Amino acid sequence: MNSVLVASNRGPVSFTVSGEGALTMKRGGGGLVSGLSGVAKDDGVLWVCAALSDGDRSAVRQAPGGRLDQAGYDTGALRMLDIAPATFHRAYNAVANSTLWFVNHLLYDTPNAPHFGSRFQREWESYRDYNGAFALALAEEAGHEARVMVQDYHLTLAPAMLRAERPDLRIAHFSHTPWAPPEYFSLLPDEVAREVLEGILGADHAGFLTGRWARAFTDCCAALLGAEVDAHGVTHDGRTTRVGVHALGVDGEELWRRAGEPDVESNVQALREQVGDRKLIVRIDRTELSKNIVRGLAAYREFLAAHPEWHGRVVHLAFAYPSRHDLPEYREYTAAVQRCAKEIEDEYATEDWDPLILNVDDNYARSLAAYRMADVLLVNPIRDGMNLVAKEGPILSPRCALVLSREAGAAAELGADALLVNPYDVVETAQALHAALVMPEEERARRAANLAAAATALPPQKWLAAQLDALS
Ligand code: F6P
Repeated sequence: MNSVLVASNRGPVSFTVSGEGALTMKRGGGGLVSGLSGVAKDDGVLWVCAALSDGDRSAVRQAPGGRLDQAGYDTGALRMLDIAPATFHRAYNAVANSTLWFVNHLLYDTPNAPHFGSRFQREWESYRDYNGAFALALAEEAGHEARVMVQDYHLTLAPAMLRAERPDLRIAHFSHTPWAPPEYFSLLPDEVAREVLEGILGADHAGFLTGRWARAFTDCCAALLGAEVDAHGVTHDGRTTRVGVHALGVDGEELWRRAGEPDVESNVQALREQVGDRKLIVRIDRTELSKNIVRGLAAYREFLAAHPEWHGRVVHLAFAYPSRHDLPEYREYTAAVQRCAKEIEDEYATEDWDPLILNVDDNYARSLAAYRMADVLLVNPIRDGMNLVAKEGPILSPRCALVLSREAGAAAELGADALLVNPYDVVETAQALHAALVMPEEERARRAANLAAAATALPPQKWLAAQLDALS
């Protein structure tokens, strides 16, 4: 039986089916997966995740008990759950990504305010079923008094469900997103808000990326459940859940190793040929509403308008990878990003200068090359749990100046050496881009070194070890 279990929606690998029906395995991305991948292969650890695509479902159906490692894949011990596609769709797209993600990133505004009708009730039922499927699998797989690390907003109900099945287990929940303040969180139907909070309080330990998100969570518990909150945690219904802050960082050595591989080198050369010796402003994001890409492009446009002396001497390399295209909001947002990019091109491009290069294909080697070459890294989310891009950039470019949203979790650790901006203030962001470009070499090197040190303070292995310790 397993002594440590990790549960998350997205697992460390995903599969695609080729024309001839062969399965190709790909490593997963994102903060959560990169945080946990380092431990996935340790002895006694089992990772339980959902099958996300038809390729994943084919792989699971061929694997004994959904155990991909036992089907010969080099994944570490991994069990993928084949949840009925309709249930998965409602739980993942409708509840997790369209509701809980929107609430915790404060993405609702008046025109798209939520409408919790009877359709949402069905979707919520599916979210319960999806959480129940995880709780059941974890209960089956966990050894006596095993430690179970449940991840993120997809799985808020699983801790309480699992505790009901297996009171011997030691359970942690970790939120990789921000948490909303009570006045915003309470736009959820009362029953739903309670279930989410009580679901997480089923854990022994609730972890967050920053003190700010942890406080928002405990404020919600006090305001909505009448729970008792003190410096250690939250007491509700006679049980105490400890609350901890674990600021996920980056494994700098591993990042350097990967960024020195031949595919990255050849991308560096190709990019250098493309942009010449012009200065580079880089951004790397999923095309995600909370990442605020449209305002970032608008800020670059303001910067070009205010500083004609930079025309022809700077290029904005913007990576906006596809994300969550099952949701109309994301498809519309992708179109808005592309429109905005085209407007900048139309207004400023000349025969020998492309002011903006927008990359919309998922190309990890190319983004690592961009990090290495960046003079300025722009990270301007409306709100973000942590944002590992802000941490990776200064590690790979020792002369990179960071323009960072004060609303990113990373601002708590990087704020002293980044140029902090209000993500809604496009003029301020444009001014910060300029300040970053003209920053003296010595100052940018000093700041980048401090940023890199802060970024590597709690690499994934230590981050997870601290949470496992908290459960011991
Ligand atoms: O909590 C945030 C997160 O899980 C990140 O780790 C990751 O970048 C993102 O969400 C992935 O979202 P999805 O799995 O929907 O692509």
